Amino acid sequence: LPPLSNRFPFDATPNAIAAARAAAGPLRDLSLANPTQAGIALPTAELVSSMAYVPNGLGARATREAIASYYRAEFHAEIDPDRIVLCASTSEGYSFCLKLVANPGDEVLVPQPSYPLLQFLIAAEGATAVPYPLHHTSAGWFLDRDALAARVTPRTRAAVLVHPNNPTGHYTATEDVAWLRSLAAGRFWVISDEVFADYAWTAQRPRSLANENAFVLSGLSKVCGLPQMKLAWIVLPVPDLRGPLEWIADTYLSVSAPIERAAPGWIEQRAAFQAPIRGRCRTNLQFLSTALLGPWTMLPPEAGWCAILQGPRHAAEETMVLEWIRKGFFVQPGFYYDLPMEPALVVSLLSPPQDLADFLAAIAS
Ligand SMILES: Cc1ncc(COP(=O)(O)O)c(C=O)c1O
Repeated sequence: LPPLSNRFPFDATPNAIAAARAAAGPLRDLSLANPTQAGIALPTAELVSSMAYVPNGLGARATREAIASYYRAEFHAEIDPDRIVLCASTSEGYSFCLKLVANPGDEVLVPQPSYPLLQFLIAAEGATAVPYPLHHTSAGWFLDRDALAARVTPRTRAAVLVHPNNPTGHYTATEDVAWLRSLAAGRFWVISDEVFADYAWTAQRPRSLANENAFVLSGLSKVCGLPQMKLAWIVLPVPDLRGPLEWIADTYLSVSAPIERAAPGWIEQRAAFQAPIRGRCRTNLQFLSTALLGPWTMLPPEAGWCAILQGPRHAAEETMVLEWIRKGFFVQPGFYYDLPMEPALVVSLLSPPQDLADFLAAIAS
């Protein structure tokens, strides 16, 4: 066969955990990231019946206006709908932004720990992901400014903030955002992934970077808990980027017309979509903060759909996860996300509460 690109390893050999998972019978899955699979009673999302199709690189104006209203209502951010570009998923949003700002071989700073797909999204554009560390102390997670600054090179084109982060559930501190903006000014772009911003568990909800000179990414998969609808968006840092980004979006026209027609209604009803998901997460968070966890400690998230359990020093994550698979549970090891503490487990707050309760009872003993 002719050669393939070298953007991915294209290695389909399952690792020990994937192999054990495939060989096991049905497991109680504590890694659920998809609300449609979590046994949550979600409202029905009505599609609009229409065969009309008016191609528009930026996406339908009415949908972009609904998204601008969302930023106004939730984050007190006034955004011109012309600074909003629709795409099919947040992943595609990353790909559009990176096509706009980076050439093959350029570098993109990414938080570590964070969402594991970032490195693949960047590799898919022929660019290189350069991790910058986040540290954890008793005061929570924080960005290591010196380490980040030391990783900036003439090839750095962007720095990604996952705000709030997955899986740590922390927001980038306001002072760190200001610091990063001044470091980045005139040198590289800031991309703020805010897909979990609506799921804050603290009283104070930090602001969006939508008016902070950053590309902001979000979408229906989390804002409405509708990952199956495949609609997301990019808020551009400055209006002047509209033309260049439209060039890219127009090349694909990837947004489905019935979805973008129905989306304004769904965005307006987001509270109804979010309520059962929030309810599930709160039940599980409450449970995690009161349950006896034996040698484990929960690192309380400020936001998002995950919690981290930090374990006793002597245990190896992979061995432990394989052992849990034998006992009928699937839980993600911290190394999937490059968590700095070992051992750690990442549990989904979308998990069926009984599964989580049984798992916690088992790890505590
Ligand atoms: C931090 C983060 N960004 C982006 C995504 C992907 O979102 P989408 O389904 O819109 O591609 C996820 C999915 O879980 C995520 O955790």
